[in-house]
Amino acid sequence: MTAILHTGDPARGALWQAVFAEQMPEMDFRCWPEIGNAEEIRYLIAWTLDPELVAALDNLEVVFSIGAGVDQLDLSCLPPHVRVVRMIESGITTTMVEYVSMAALMLHRDMPFYATEQRESRWSHRDVKFCSERTVGVMGLGELGRASLARLNRLGFRTIGWSRSGGAIEGTRCYGGSGQLGDFLADCEILVCLLPLTDETRGVLSRDLFDRMPMGASLINVARGGHLVEQDLLDALDRGQLRYAMLDVADPEPLPEGHPFYSHPAIVLTPHIAGVTRKDTAVHSLIANVRRALAGEPFEGEVDRSRGY
Ligand code: NAP
Ligand code: GLV
Repeated sequence: MTAILHTGDPARGALWQAVFAEQMPEMDFRCWPEIGNAEEIRYLIAWTLDPELVAALDNLEVVFSIGAGVDQLDLSCLPPHVRVVRMIESGITTTMVEYVSMAALMLHRDMPFYATEQRESRWSHRDVKFCSERTVGVMGLGELGRASLARLNRLGFRTIGWSRSGGAIEGTRCYGGSGQLGDFLADCEILVCLLPLTDETRGVLSRDLFDRMPMGASLINVARGGHLVEQDLLDALDRGQLRYAMLDVADPEPLPEGHPFYSHPAIVLTPHIAGVTRKDTAVHSLIANVRRALAGEPFEGEVDRSRGY
């Protein structure tokens, strides 16, 4: 008997159990804490890892992340042979693309400024540009960065992208590696962070980076709170180096009561809702990957554990 164990949201577990029963009855889908015979569990589905549970699963082969990111999984508690697969599914991609489009348009059209004006009963206005006169740069050209760029292009923005290896994207000028980061940043009027959080990218959204962007540029962070040096952002906003920031992620989440991000007029904060794993769509990506595991085929979205993404 081969089993897969779901942890986390019980409603999602119950739904996925029913879908597996229909589409993949040969797989015994179990929902924590009903783990049954632990020796039969070869696959684990999780958002975070419980080291005690992992230690009890002697035959664990693969961890499937509920999310696109894997930094929230403490990989140090996994034996080296256990493979890790991140979630690539249409629900996350579609919701992320919609959020990035909304955020870029909100900052492009000065919505944080108008929100303050409305609260203060004022009726002033700022100059208006076309999207075609605004450059949006995306850091991280993976699944979500590329999908976001395609939509930003369709909205009419000028787009540029940067990642470790660069690459080619139709309609987008791409830069690669630390040697080309300065050229990329120099053109970013709105910067979107869609990097994974790793030892290399932690704290990348810092004073040094903000100061290489044009004066009055804006930031959208939809990746992880750990990418951002909070005080550097507050300073950059105070100095006018940055105009606005739209933040969907923070560290910790939720931010503590009274944190300055809650009330800063130039910051729009949302509670980690940019890209959402949809129960109804993600289960099909999971089933496809479990079938690949059983057939010995390569996964979609396998993480290179040595580089952390
Ligand atoms: P992905 O497909 O793994 O793409 C990662 C990209 O980042 C790749 O282009 C990679 O470059 C680049 N990269 C990694 N390390 C780098 C470094 N040190 N310097 C420069 N570029 C680097 O990831 P994804 O699926 O697009 O997801 C990105 C992140 O979004 C996730 O890790 C997660 O943290 C976040 N996320 C947030 C939400 C939300 O709701 N806010 C939802 C989903 C995901 P190469 O191509 O050269 O390897
Ligand atoms: C959400 O943050 C994800 O990583 O999918």
